[in-house]
Order: sequence, then C-alpha cells, then structure tokens
Amino acid sequence: MINVRYLRVPLQCKNTYHMGKIKSIGILTSGGDSPGMNAAIRAVTRSAIFEGWKVFGIYRGYDGLIEGDVKEFTTESVSGIIFEGGTILKTARSKDFMTQEGRAKAFETMKKFKIDALVVIGGNGSLSGAQEFSSEFDIPVIGLPGTIDNDLYGTDNTIGYDTALNTIMECVDKIHDTANSHNRIFFIEVMGRDAGFLAMNSAIAAGAEAAIIPESSTDIDQLAAYIERGIRKSKRSSIVIVSEADGGAMHYAERMHNEYPEFDVRVSILGYVQRGGRPSAVDRILASRMGVAAIEALKEGQRNVMIGVINDKMVNIPFAQAVKKDKPIDDELINVLGILST
Ligand code: F6P
Repeated sequence: MINVRYLRVPLQCKNTYHMGKIKSIGILTSGGDSPGMNAAIRAVTRSAIFEGWKVFGIYRGYDGLIEGDVKEFTTESVSGIIFEGGTILKTARSKDFMTQEGRAKAFETMKKFKIDALVVIGGNGSLSGAQEFSSEFDIPVIGLPGTIDNDLYGTDNTIGYDTALNTIMECVDKIHDTANSHNRIFFIEVMGRDAGFLAMNSAIAAGAEAAIIPESSTDIDQLAAYIERGIRKSKRSSIVIVSEADGGAMHYAERMHNEYPEFDVRVSILGYVQRGGRPSAVDRILASRMGVAAIEALKEGQRNVMIGVINDKMVNIPFAQAVKKDKPIDDELINVLGILST
C-alpha cells in the first residue's frame, strides 16, 4: 500500500538552473508501444505550449535523440491522434543509449536544439535510461509510465494497461465459445513479461478457471485436479490464462497433455494483438492527466520523477523507486479468482 502523502518529491535545490527557466522540452516514446501513448504526447505538447514553451518531438525513442531525429511540434502536430493506438513518434529499444558514448551524443542533440528538459513515455527500461541520463547530465527528466504490463511501482495503472486488458478479455470471450463447443481446455498466453497483472485481471474479467502468473508458483497436479473437479461438476470446458514468463502456455499445455492425456488441450498465444488498437476512455483520460501533470512537475522544478496515479490522485515517484521496487499483485485478486472459478 502506497501512502500518497509521502510521494510528493521535495523540490530539488541541487540544480536550480532550470527552475522557472524552462523554455523548451523534448518528448519521446521508448520501449514497447502502448495504446494511449499518443494521448500522452498530445497532452504534454499542448500543456507545454500553453505555458509558452517550445516542444520538440523526438522520433524513434532514444535512438532519435542520439541521431538528432527531432522536429518542432505545434498544437496542430498532435491534432487527431488521441484515438490512435501506437505512437506517432515511433519507438525503439535503444542499445546505443545504454552506453555512455550514446548518452553523450544524446546530450549533444539536447544542446543543439536547446532542449531544457525531457519527457519520456515508456516502461521500466526506458525510465531506467531516463534516470541515468538525468543524473549524468543534470537534465530535468520526467517519466510517464507507458506500458501494457502495468509493472511500474508507484502508479495504480500504466498507460495502455486498461486497453490491453479489454483486448485480452474480448479474445478470451471468443475462445470460450470454441472451448465450450468442443469441451476443451485452453491455455491462453498473455503478455506481461515478469508481471501477472494482465493475466490475473483478464482471468477475473473473462471468467477463466485459473491464472498462472510469475508472482506465484503453480503445481500442475493441483491445476489438473482443479480442472477435473470442475468437469465433474458439469463444466464443459476450462480456460487457464498464462503469463508469458516461465515457458508460457505451451509449457503448461504440454505438461498437462503428457500427464493427463484424457484432457483435450489447446493453446492460444495472443501476442502483439494485445499492444494495438484504439485506447480505451480510461487510458485516454489517464494519459491526458499524466501529460498535464508532467508539465506541472517541470514547472515546480521536479526532476527524475515518474508521474503516477494512486487512488485517483496524481503523484510524483522518484525514478529509483518506480523502476526498482516490486509492484506486487494484491492477494485479494488471487482470492477473488479462486472463489469465483469454483
Ligand atoms: O510492452 C511490454 C511487452 O509487451 C512485454 O510484455 C513483452 O515481453 C515485450 O513487450 C515484448 O515486446 P518486443 O517484442 O517489442 O520487445
């Protein structure tokens, strides 16, 4: 449980050069794209221009910052994008930015375009890069959590998570039809790398029998016994949602098939369909609020923080915490799934 009162980061006086002197910002998206990134780009751009600042769109994430792939944005540059998935700025997982040399080149671009501060929209790796860059070159950087995985500490939701969850739910609803028609057991793999938020909450939303998540271990015999019990109680099919970690759905389906050949087992890997599509209203609103909060944070002299939302309140979380601290899955969710799938 995060206490909101303690999350406002005190103004940093170490470097007061930028306080009240920001005239221009750069904005980039980095890492895996997520629905709502465009809404965030729009919000950051428009609220910075509202303050009278210049805004530079940086293309292809940190690679674009290193190579100077930069264009000045106007209010019109971000017209008609709030409802589009993906990111108009493109994105990349930059290897060069992981090197000191790469970051030094990125700093040269900042100087060349006279960019005073940076807003980075991305996940764990992107914000770790932001943290490093900000401390090496003493630049104010604000992060927005943009990832479908929802695996950043210090925010209840990340931009794109809600849309991805809805996409998964719709896919699982469809698979239910065929599972029921054929009396099959489906192992459905969802994204989430090291985090089970998508798996756990989509399992609850779609009425699945179980979720296999990286945060807790799963015993295949227990799972089989559980499915068998359901079938004895006249359940015609079963759906198990599996996080992509630890071998994913294929691994569990094979084990189930080998050890319990009486079950008709199938696998469905949802893949990149989860990252695309128009952002939900929840993600558009979240991204818009976070974009405005990023500019507010810069105005206050904040740096090295990620904007989060906790209990519907905007908060600033130091990068060090956002990327390093674990965000656990609430036991209550595990309990809910357990009770409702009996
Ligand atoms: O966006 C996050 C994520 O979807 C993870 O769940 C996944 O492991 C990763 O991105 C894969 O993305 P890519 O193939 O683009 O590296």
